Amino acid sequence: MSTHPPSPVPIAPSPVLSGDARSDFDLTESELHACLDLAAGIKSSPKSYSRALDGMVVSLLFEKPSLRTRITFEVAAKQLGGDSILYTGPIGGREPVKDVARNLERWTSMIVARTFSQTTVDELAAWSSSPVINALSDLYHPCQALADMLTLREHWGGFDGRTLAFVGDGNNVAHSLMLDCARLGVNFTCITPPGYEPSMEILAAARRFAAATGAAIRSTDSLEVGLAGANAVYTDVWASMGQEHEAAERARLFASYQVNAALMSMAAPGALFMHCLPAHREEETTDEVMESPVSVIFDQAENRLHAQKSLMLMLACGDKKD
Ligand code: CP
Ligand code: NVA
Repeated sequence: MSTHPPSPVPIAPSPVLSGDARSDFDLTESELHACLDLAAGIKSSPKSYSRALDGMVVSLLFEKPSLRTRITFEVAAKQLGGDSILYTGPIGGREPVKDVARNLERWTSMIVARTFSQTTVDELAAWSSSPVINALSDLYHPCQALADMLTLREHWGGFDGRTLAFVGDGNNVAHSLMLDCARLGVNFTCITPPGYEPSMEILAAARRFAAATGAAIRSTDSLEVGLAGANAVYTDVWASMGQEHEAAERARLFASYQVNAALMSMAAPGALFMHCLPAHREEETTDEVMESPVSVIFDQAENRLHAQKSLMLMLACGDKKD
């Protein structure tokens, strides 16, 4: 085993994590493995990276609320020797997104953006010569999925032959988990009420990745079918940010998909419980499950910090401009 902390591998050619597997702006399978390896190295030896982003300032743009993402990016930038500036509000309201991108690239070294629409992230990426990171959009949450794959690797000791079941809405978190599982060779089953399945286009993209790794990527409305043999069960809110007006209708339609003790007993013995947080206790899951010994929700939250540091270092190192 090496005694030296790992060095970042440059991400090339597009210095972007848009999360969108349909575009060129995303991590390859080998970059994903490298990002997880570096994250583990940073986690075990954080001080070795305390000057890694020396003098770099990161723009944090948030159109939606955040606790974990905002704080972990701010802490990550500071602990790597850089700094961050926070902007909250609409992106592209006062001026076109392409102008926002070309202003920010003159002042800061990287853009982290939480947006309502994925097209805003894509447009920032297309117009900025600085790296762009998707901090959650309507379609994806790639930073969450990175941290979750790190968490699973730590608890499982590897990915081979493992299965992750996602229960609830086929949403942004489900999409990013599905794409990362496909690239890392983890079987993934999305269990949703009829009408709330993941995007067919993203499912097809995940299956294309899975052809190379052998992962089985499934979508079903059956808890019995989907949970059989699952080594981890993941859920998220039923109504995401921007869908609050649908919350009452969804609560009715999703009721039998609540991740409670009875549902957890349908998965493999010792299956982990996961949630990206924030959670609505007694809706999509129960306090009992969240506080149970198989719950790894705060490991997931901690790993946001290490995974995002790793991603920022790889992007900074692949950014030819700096
Ligand atoms: N999981 C997550 O992204 O949390 P925040 O919305 O608080 O950033
Ligand atoms: N699906 C949720 C995730 C929050 C971290 C949302 O988009 O609101």
